[in-house]
Amino acid sequence: MKRSSSPSDTLVVVAGATGRLGRLLVDSLLAHPGVTVRALVRDPDDPKVEGLVREGVELAGFDAVAASDEARAEVVRGAYSVVSALQGGPEVIVDAQLSLMRAAKRAGARRFIASAYSFDFFSLPEGVNLNSDWRRAFAVQARPEPGDAFEVVHVMQGIFADAFVLGFLGALDAERGVVRYWGDGTTPIDWTTWEDTARFTAAAALDERPVPERLYVRGDRMDILTFARTWEQAHGRTVTRERLGSLEELAQEIERRMAAEPRNMMAWLPLMYARGMYGGKALLGPVLNARYPEIQAETVAQAIAHGAV
Ligand SMILES: NC(=O)c1ccc[n+]([C@@H]2O[C@H](COP(=O)([O-])OP(=O)(O)OC[C@H]3O[C@@H](n4cnc5c(N)ncnc54)[C@H](OP(=O)(O)O)[C@@H]3O)[C@@H](O)[C@H]2O)c1
Repeated sequence: MKRSSSPSDTLVVVAGATGRLGRLLVDSLLAHPGVTVRALVRDPDDPKVEGLVREGVELAGFDAVAASDEARAEVVRGAYSVVSALQGGPEVIVDAQLSLMRAAKRAGARRFIASAYSFDFFSLPEGVNLNSDWRRAFAVQARPEPGDAFEVVHVMQGIFADAFVLGFLGALDAERGVVRYWGDGTTPIDWTTWEDTARFTAAAALDERPVPERLYVRGDRMDILTFARTWEQAHGRTVTRERLGSLEELAQEIERRMAAEPRNMMAWLPLMYARGMYGGKALLGPVLNARYPEIQAETVAQAIAHGAV
């Protein structure tokens, strides 16, 4: 399928456009000439929607879980690509994404880009990280038959080089000047900024060439101790390195917290991400940045310099 050559005629549908990544994705799509974005929003009165309207985005009210098949068919009509930046549990990441993907396929879209934006969850064993398990479960069920022109794509870029994400992971407390880690601190970690991830995803959404199922892109690769040194050089401040324990102790701590608070995901989910990050099993495969030479992905040092971390 070729994109339309008429101005403003390539339509990309974005689910999760009010989210942090979704909003950046909309901006990245609109930076390409001739692109129209249809944002699927749960609550059109949400103040976050105002900014989208100002940018000339087409809005469609849509709850990804509750929507009927007719509503799904309606919101994806005419799309070149459908991109998801949804966040949620298995009812969103597996069930709702599968329904939306199938609607996109039936409507004749070229591809569906799933809400992955992760380290390589394909190579993680089941149970290491629940969020990865759901993304892999979606991917397996969504995989098109060989020879099918419709594509399902997972953008994988490692972890976001970002203070909020590192705070969530418990890896950086910038205020107190502490870097905390599990393992020996020398496992390579893949890093990319939110903005570059959005740029690569927009480029993939608009690509007229086939896009592989696993689109690996990256800003940088470095272990947490090198990150600590890089942060110190950029900020001119020293940080304390605090080793929290071995990878075995990390696994035990996750088990302990899950047993104590099984329903409180926030008690143990960050540690599951830490397990993916420090375990070394979820490193990205061959990176495909060169497909999109117009995107010069920031290194960790550049991301720190621009204030992301
Ligand atoms: N690799 C990393 O370091 C890293 C870090 C963070 C996130 N991520 C990934 O990036 C992706 C996006 O995350 P994010 O932080 O940008 O998410 P977010 O800010 O929480 O946004 C989630 C979006 O999903 C929408 N949504 C959720 N349930 C919905 C439903 N039933 N119907 C319609 N919309 C629904 C939300 O709509 P409302 O505004 O209406 O709630 C919002 O637009 C996720 O796959 C996440 O795992 C990766």
